[in-house]
Amino acid sequence: MRIMISGGAGFIGGHIADALSEQGHEIAILDDLSSGENSNIPSTAKFYEIDVTDSQSVQNAIAEFQPEAICHQAAQMSVSRSVREPDFDANVNIMGLINVLKAAAENGTKKFVFASSGGVLYGDVTKPASETTPANPISPYGISKWGGEKYLEFFTREHGMKTVALRYSNVYGPRQNPHGEAGVVAIFCTKMLHGEEATVNGDGKYIRDYVFVADVVNANVCALTSETDGFVAYNVGTGLPTDVNEVANSLRNHCQNELNSRGIERTVPEVGHGPARAGDLRSNLIAYDKIQKELDWSPETVVEAGLKQAARWFAMKLLDN
Ligand SMILES: NC(=O)c1ccc[n+]([C@@H]2O[C@H](COP(=O)([O-])OP(=O)(O)OC[C@H]3O[C@@H](n4cnc5c(N)ncnc54)[C@H](O)[C@@H]3O)[C@@H](O)[C@H]2O)c1
Repeated sequence: MRIMISGGAGFIGGHIADALSEQGHEIAILDDLSSGENSNIPSTAKFYEIDVTDSQSVQNAIAEFQPEAICHQAAQMSVSRSVREPDFDANVNIMGLINVLKAAAENGTKKFVFASSGGVLYGDVTKPASETTPANPISPYGISKWGGEKYLEFFTREHGMKTVALRYSNVYGPRQNPHGEAGVVAIFCTKMLHGEEATVNGDGKYIRDYVFVADVVNANVCALTSETDGFVAYNVGTGLPTDVNEVANSLRNHCQNELNSRGIERTVPEVGHGPARAGDLRSNLIAYDKIQKELDWSPETVVEAGLKQAARWFAMKLLDN
């Protein structure tokens, strides 16, 4: 298949690009490298260095590559930036999406997969939220993801395009940056490997649903290559609760092991506690029954094993030069 990945130089998009290109698909990446990196782009992929808000360049790239499917990962993905700059967020996350959808429709693209967010759509939930849980986004980032899904529905109705919104929970793993919903993993690994104290906000009893990036990649591959009808939204998470204290303690062990295995005499300090952050959700979990039933997807990596892989990757990046 000919597949274009917007945001394919980023954390999740780069892993999707690797997987699709290993499976023999013809890949193009569309990315402005604002947070993505050249090194995440597979050598076999065609690369368009383009900002999704530049509608003419998006149109030209899609007209040239003629993708059968588009996997739209490009976004400004910082909740806090969206609060400070809601106009910037809407421009990239809504106008940018419309530019790609419009060019896709005009060029006969049949399938469109969109990176949405279960973490920000459902708000505080103590039991795993299903796709029918009413959306209640409170940040501009959440509003733009929710609005984005509505545009997918519109393009399905108007142009017959098959569209899928994948509502990720908190995605973590190798190559992640500190800005996403699971940014705490990148922040803690960086501090701990440098022997600095990692600080948990408040009491750290913030329940999150951590899903490993390889599992998110598989969900995207399933969504791109399976038959789906009209518009459909799927949660992509584990349904399992992990609080920030557990993440911090587990990473402390893994980071200490990485230091020890390199003979670096450095002790990772005990985790500290700082003030609670206003607006942080107490609990967010999502159920994945629908995608399991319809696309035969389920998460395969338990959080302990995924955190170990993340710590190993950060250790290789920060310590092995
Ligand atoms: N990381 C998470 O926990 C998480 C959770 C839910 C949803 N998501 C969504 O998944 C997608 C990928 O997130 P990520 O964690 O890989 O983030 P990322 O920042 O690593 O990747 C985003 C990519 O989009 C590119 N990009 C940003 N603005 C652009 C623009 N104007 N034009 C072209 N390219 C642009 C960046 O350069 C980057 O390569 C995003 O849509 C994000 O909102 C992420």
